[in-house]
Amino acid sequence: MKNKMFKKIASVAAISGMFVMLAGCNSSLLKETEVEGAQRPIIIQGPMPIEAEYFAGKLEKVKVEKSGKFVFYKGKLNNYPVIVTKTGKGMENAAAATALAIEKYDPIAIINQGTSGGHNPELNVFDIVLGERTTNIGSLKTTHMDEGQGMDPASWIPMDLMASEGSGSDDSANQVRYYYGDKDLLTAANAVKDTYTKGKVVEGTIGSADFWNSEVDRIKWIHEIYDTDVEEMEGASVAQIADAYDVAFLGIRILSNNKTNGGTYDPGTAPANQAYVYEVVKEYISMIKNK
Ligand code: 5AD
Repeated sequence: MKNKMFKKIASVAAISGMFVMLAGCNSSLLKETEVEGAQRPIIIQGPMPIEAEYFAGKLEKVKVEKSGKFVFYKGKLNNYPVIVTKTGKGMENAAAATALAIEKYDPIAIINQGTSGGHNPELNVFDIVLGERTTNIGSLKTTHMDEGQGMDPASWIPMDLMASEGSGSDDSANQVRYYYGDKDLLTAANAVKDTYTKGKVVEGTIGSADFWNSEVDRIKWIHEIYDTDVEEMEGASVAQIADAYDVAFLGIRILSNNKTNGGTYDPGTAPANQAYVYEVVKEYISMIKNK
């Protein structure tokens, strides 16, 4: 009798244990916003510590989550969920941090922001470019040259890896692909541009590649072929992944240097940009709340 009872208790315990395990497993597979009533967060990305930590420090109720080398500062701004991500530098880090953030947090929008180098001589250090368009300036095909004929970077052709699922050798790939900044994010950014007093805020084209160009003739060539205003190392990869998941995206880049007009590097631009992006995010949150 005692033994029977024990067996019954043991099996009830095992079954309820299984339920607990299943529930636990299930909830870890759920995105955070799948909890009823949860708001979809806004993701703000910065590659380097100086490009993320100032904004993270302005969030309330921050919890830090890490995934690999990627750091997510989950907090609140005006009672709305905002997650600052320190992505690390470069296209691969930025793409991975974006895919992770989308899968984990189901964001309503992603802003990739930070410093950049000027391609447009009319823009000065501390001016800010809102990415009306963002494009990959490192995806290129060379022309054919035989051994001993050397190399001719000015004859290289932009290659659109998303033109088809087939080989990049077909002509459909011989084009520049632009990712357009989300209209609502651009509206929010334009609405608060007068709050920024350290330079101009303009709409323009952001070019990205794992490349730091300091040859002025090369910069001029990129500027002519891609119509770029600035270069950096992340925006286009984030735009590509955001597009793949249909998530709103905008690049916001401050000039920290500009070889075309002698503008020397100023690290003080990184927090200045975050202070402006903070105003953009506040505006965007009030737009969401009034929808
Ligand atoms: N060229 C390329 N990247 C730049 N960055 C700032 N200025 C430039 C430039 N002239 C940014 C990149 C990267 C880090 C090195 O700074 O986005 O994250």
